[in-house]
Amino acid sequence: MKLLYEGKAKRLYEGKAKRLYETEQPDELLMEFKDDATAFNGEKHAQFENKGRMNQAISLLLMQLLEKQGVPTHFVSTVGNIRTIVKNVEIIKIEVVVRNVAAGSLCGRTWLKEGEALKTPLVEWFLKDDDLEDPMINDDHILEMELATADELAFLKSEALKINEILKPFFLKTGLTLIDFKLEFGRLSTDPSTIILADEISPDTCRLWDVTTGEKMDKDRFRRDLGNVMESYAEVLKRAENAVNS
Ligand code: TMP
Ligand code: ASP
Repeated sequence: MKLLYEGKAKRLYEGKAKRLYETEQPDELLMEFKDDATAFNGEKHAQFENKGRMNQAISLLLMQLLEKQGVPTHFVSTVGNIRTIVKNVEIIKIEVVVRNVAAGSLCGRTWLKEGEALKTPLVEWFLKDDDLEDPMINDDHILEMELATADELAFLKSEALKINEILKPFFLKTGLTLIDFKLEFGRLSTDPSTIILADEISPDTCRLWDVTTGEKMDKDRFRRDLGNVMESYAEVLKRAENAVNS
């Protein structure tokens, strides 16, 4: 398959951590991982050498694991270290967050304290809108804005929980607790009634804590200025590769 890349391709989208380009096939896009890291809705910004490469490798490994267990994803193939061919989807403007342990914004909105194990995994919806700073929304807001139907929401929730049930034990095998993570889904350009997992799953979009030391091994190292950001991402990749091959 030929790419309309290297100067010629039309850039369809540039986000904070990725770019999307057209390919010669209308049902496929080229996704490029950037080395940029942002936090607090872009207020804080830095670049980390190799971040794009590591996020692509981690995301690829996790998406392949999910595919094997019956979760359809947008992944088609890789083109080198930072570029992936993905299925062309229209992203649903809902960030789906699953939580196993209280952390992050949940602690600012509830009486739950960081590190408290949740009795049951929580699923939360956030509106994917930078101008509004991705506010939390509920089912009624989603139906009102026609972001998804009630049946689609039920599907998103069950798919998110299924993904959690695959990723949680996988990460445990690597010595990491999957505290929480964010997913994005999209509608196939060729068949909008089919919804698949899109975007990425990486230390940018997950919280991962070392099981024994409790050390944070994800983007919170950047958000909270804890240092060793890339060392932690590299460690996550190394452990995940070992777990897949074991
Ligand atoms: P939160 O605790 O800040 O709501 O984040 C929940 C999870 O979602 C956490 O694993 C980080 C991830 N996340 C993103 O991937 N993108 C974002 O813009 C935000 C705010 C969180
Ligand atoms: N991705 C978001 C941003 O750039 C927030 C975050 O991940 O903390 O600002």
